[in-house]
Amino acid sequence: MHLYFKLFLFSVGFVAGAFLAVVYVDLSSDKDVLIVKNQRPFVQYQYEDWFKKQGLRRENRLWDELRYENKSQYLESNYLFGKISVLCVILVKFERNVKAANETWAKGCNGIDLLYLQEKNRKLPGKRTKEKAPPVLLCNNLLTVPDKYDWVLVVYDDTFVIMENLRYFLAPLNAKQDYYLGHTVTFWSRDYNLGQAGYVISKGALDKLKSNLSEPDACFKDLIYYNKEDFYIGKQLGKLNISPSDTRDLNGLSTFFPYNWYHVFFPGETYFQLSKYPVKCCSERAISFNAIEGHKMYTYYYLFYTLQQFIDGKNGNIPLINKDPEDKVWKSFLKERNIPSDHITSYEYYKVWEDLVEDPNSFAKNLKREEHSDL
Ligand SMILES: *[C@@H]1O[C@H](CO)[C@@H](O)[C@H](O)[C@H]1NC(C)=O
Ligand SMILES: *[C@@H]1O[C@H](CO)[C@@H](O)[C@H](O)[C@H]1NC(C)=O
Ligand SMILES: *[C@@H]1O[C@H](CO)[C@@H](O)[C@H](O)[C@H]1NC(C)=O
Repeated sequence: MHLYFKLFLFSVGFVAGAFLAVVYVDLSSDKDVLIVKNQRPFVQYQYEDWFKKQGLRRENRLWDELRYENKSQYLESNYLFGKISVLCVILVKFERNVKAANETWAKGCNGIDLLYLQEKNRKLPGKRTKEKAPPVLLCNNLLTVPDKYDWVLVVYDDTFVIMENLRYFLAPLNAKQDYYLGHTVTFWSRDYNLGQAGYVISKGALDKLKSNLSEPDACFKDLIYYNKEDFYIGKQLGKLNISPSDTRDLNGLSTFFPYNWYHVFFPGETYFQLSKYPVKCCSERAISFNAIEGHKMYTYYYLFYTLQQFIDGKNGNIPLINKDPEDKVWKSFLKERNIPSDHITSYEYYKVWEDLVEDPNSFAKNLKREEHSDL
């Protein structure tokens, strides 16, 4: 439970969104924000600068107010959803994970594009052809990304992404510049972002890729591995001088994780030797984790977006002070039914309950039935 507790804490600030953004009109701030490209682009205070320039004001709100009151205000994360459009390209191996992703974290994508790395429902392994090689499939797919998206996020179907934190990272960045963000590894003296952690490509970088690979079948050239589409994309971008940025936050904490939470949190379990930058758990705005099967996505989604921690309020978990002693409760129960309470026999006691409910056997049966129907 301790683990969940920590997870919830580091996400609550933004994901659960105790913040609301309220629009007020400030025409003077309607300028383009230009932030020069940084080798380490995740600089938290740049988000605040960016936010100020939006002409918005934010207020803290309690969860209960958010849920039960009707106010014409909206979450800061909703504002970012409308402002920073992200297409999620999900590389599919297991259909069941796609359903879970669709119903959980991927709701935060502005568009979802499913790319099947193997033919659907294929029983026997098919013939391997260049056309069907995952690097080629992904490359061709990226060339057709509609212009309306500022960013493309490429993930496997077992990656869990905290989209609010991703947008928090992306908001101050200029999507027209070249960005290739993820968990960087060095392999064969080439830097690329690991597919397991998911990676993000800016529109600027994608446009360069599109124009460079404009010839038909351009994606087929220099295919080395049948798999390893992440390496291949990194290589293609590298040729255009687009290299991965360091995605650690200001405190040097990692944001994109190519492995699951066990490996992130369990001491001594961080095993990715190829990582270019030291892996340090975890930024409070961590973005992605891998190896999350479908059923766990629902659990994490619940923990991130629904479960509330008790942090405020007057009564909370304090026991009632004037709790009646048990026999007093019992006596007043009988008194309400005009039964003298001092010398009641066990038979009379039984009759009272029988009249009130049913006999104990069927009462127990009903109870059991209800319990089961709850499952
Ligand atoms: C919320 O309030 C607005 C304005 O008073 C009203 O138009 C709207 O119907 C209300 N919505 C709900 C769900 O009560
Ligand atoms: C997931 O969402 C995509 C895009 O909205 C849709 O095409 C696909 O059918 C959905 N898949 C499942 C299994 O829900
Ligand atoms: C693609 O980029 C490579 C490396 O910079 C260059 O040699 C090649 O001419 C480019 N191709 C096109 C069609 O722009």
